[in-house]
Amino acid sequence: MAQKKRIFSGIQPSGDLHLGNWLGAIKNWVSLQDEYECVYCVVDYHAITIPYEADDLRRRTINAVIDLLACGVDPDKSKLFVQSHVPQHTELAWVLACYTSLGDLERMTQFKDKASQHSQHVNAGLFTYPILQAADIAIYRADAVPVGEDQLQHLELAREIVRRFNGRMGGGREILPEAQAIVRAGARVMGLDGDAKMSKSKNNYIGIMEEKDAIWKKLAPAKTDEKRLRKTDPGNPEDCNIWSLHKLFADSEETLDWVRTGCTGASIGCVDCKRRLLENIDAEIAPIRERRKEFAGDMPRVTKILADSAAWCRDEAEITMREVRQALGVR
Ligand code: TYM
Repeated sequence: MAQKKRIFSGIQPSGDLHLGNWLGAIKNWVSLQDEYECVYCVVDYHAITIPYEADDLRRRTINAVIDLLACGVDPDKSKLFVQSHVPQHTELAWVLACYTSLGDLERMTQFKDKASQHSQHVNAGLFTYPILQAADIAIYRADAVPVGEDQLQHLELAREIVRRFNGRMGGGREILPEAQAIVRAGARVMGLDGDAKMSKSKNNYIGIMEEKDAIWKKLAPAKTDEKRLRKTDPGNPEDCNIWSLHKLFADSEETLDWVRTGCTGASIGCVDCKRRLLENIDAEIAPIRERRKEFAGDMPRVTKILADSAAWCRDEAEITMREVRQALGVR
């Protein structure tokens, strides 16, 4: 049988996993587990590029691991580990930094956003963040990377960096492969403000571990088609962020028809429409919340999953580093 292709992907331990993470990335991570050999990572070293407290980072990191297990990352099929447990990531990042141009880093929109959010703490780590991301992927010689749309610029740069490294040091060989992005439906989920992508930092998100009541408190005031001032005003679903969420959570075509005709014909109001969405969101994520309790109650199991995966990852990463060091002439 042909060997499975390998995918790598990572997530920051930013506190609350939200619907954007779920739809743009994690749901795909889960569904790709049979087709690919999967390596999934909580990127704690990326998280230290903005101000934080050590105890809080430790807590967020382990919580992110538990969240991913609850979401369906299956340790019998996939590797799931914490970035700092595999030191070769940072070793390769240093090497790749020597093949990255400052101009390319300066173009990164995530850097510009974060630098303006944390203007008192713009450090070199924040600037070189995409190099560590390139190393995360290349250290496992991954073929593909499932991500949301906001990561495409970083992935394009990662390809450029390894191309440059291979071109200069590979002697005609591709030492590090250029990984392809895998982007699917839900790759750009907008926040409840309807203005920016859903994110923790914009506080416009629904957390996937939130209880139904808490979700409703956020969904009820969420922005809809601004032309629908009263229930009797007909609306246009294409101008409504709630419709884009319906398309991602609808249980059937009939639900979509109900929303479309109800909104354009003003036979349902935005509250009715949001209530139906709430039901469908909750149907999808309630089982995740339940599974989370199981994993959170069995920390020895979680710790063992991380240790086993990290041991495998260190061996695999060392294979890459041996070749890289050889090519560089440092061994
Ligand atoms: P992070 O932690 O911001 O997000 C994790 C994943 O969730 C996706 N995502 C979204 N998708 C759709 N709509 C949204 N509103 C939304 N918000 C987040 C992201 O695209 C991502 O796939 N730099 C990365 C982490 C990382 C990484 C890597 C990813 C580090 N090394 C190597 C891939 C490969 C980040 O900050 O993701």
